[in-house]
Amino acid sequence: MNRDSNLLAEFLDRMTINVSEFYRNAKRWEVLEKKILPGMVRQKRKLKVWSAACSTGEEPYTLAMILSAFYPLSQIQILATDIDDHVIQKAKIGMYGERALQEVPLPIKDKYFIKQGMVYKIHDDIKRTVTFRKHNLLADSFDRDFDLIVCRNVLIYFTEEAKHLLYQKFSQALAPEGVFFVGSTEQIFNPSSYGFETEDTFFYRKV
Ligand SMILES: C[S@@+](CC[C@H](N)C(=O)[O-])C[C@H]1O[C@@H](n2cnc3c(N)ncnc32)[C@H](O)[C@@H]1O
Repeated sequence: MNRDSNLLAEFLDRMTINVSEFYRNAKRWEVLEKKILPGMVRQKRKLKVWSAACSTGEEPYTLAMILSAFYPLSQIQILATDIDDHVIQKAKIGMYGERALQEVPLPIKDKYFIKQGMVYKIHDDIKRTVTFRKHNLLADSFDRDFDLIVCRNVLIYFTEEAKHLLYQKFSQALAPEGVFFVGSTEQIFNPSSYGFETEDTFFYRKV
């Protein structure tokens, strides 16, 4: 690569680092809904769920929409965190362009979004299920006893050393049998060393 294309790549990286979308890698969310959640739901009346590095909210809101097939919305509580105040503010507003909704199944789009001109607004009932909080994965302590932790498309930016430490912390933050759902380029190569077993590609269960 010459210097200009290096600069362009760096520029694009910086521009897209907060990029997110609803149902990102839709096939993986299908695995969550069809394979992972039914077993969990049978065992628990309520799930403790964390979307870590949630960016502008598409990920935790997707979780709420999927969980709504299993629980009444009043029973769903999702913690969503990010290091960046700016994205948290956007997430709380809950307004999105068409592009962020490309993968949303039509019945869900009709049910949980209100179209206002060019913008789609998240339904208040879905918004109420998510609590946004500022949190730095590399510096702050983790809460405990989560049944499901989703942390996608952020660990790729971290060093191997940081990843190693974070896998340990995520494992400790999960309840027994809890599931860790990672991004589609973020496979863990030695899951057993963190007390995980592979449940499906990109899903790890704490044993
Ligand atoms: C590419 S977005 C991923 C959003 C979402 N998880 C997804 O997969 O669509 C990466 C997010 O990680 C956040 N982030 C970066 N470093 C972080 C850290 N140390 N602690 C918490 N969040 C961090 C960024 O602010 C950004 O919102």
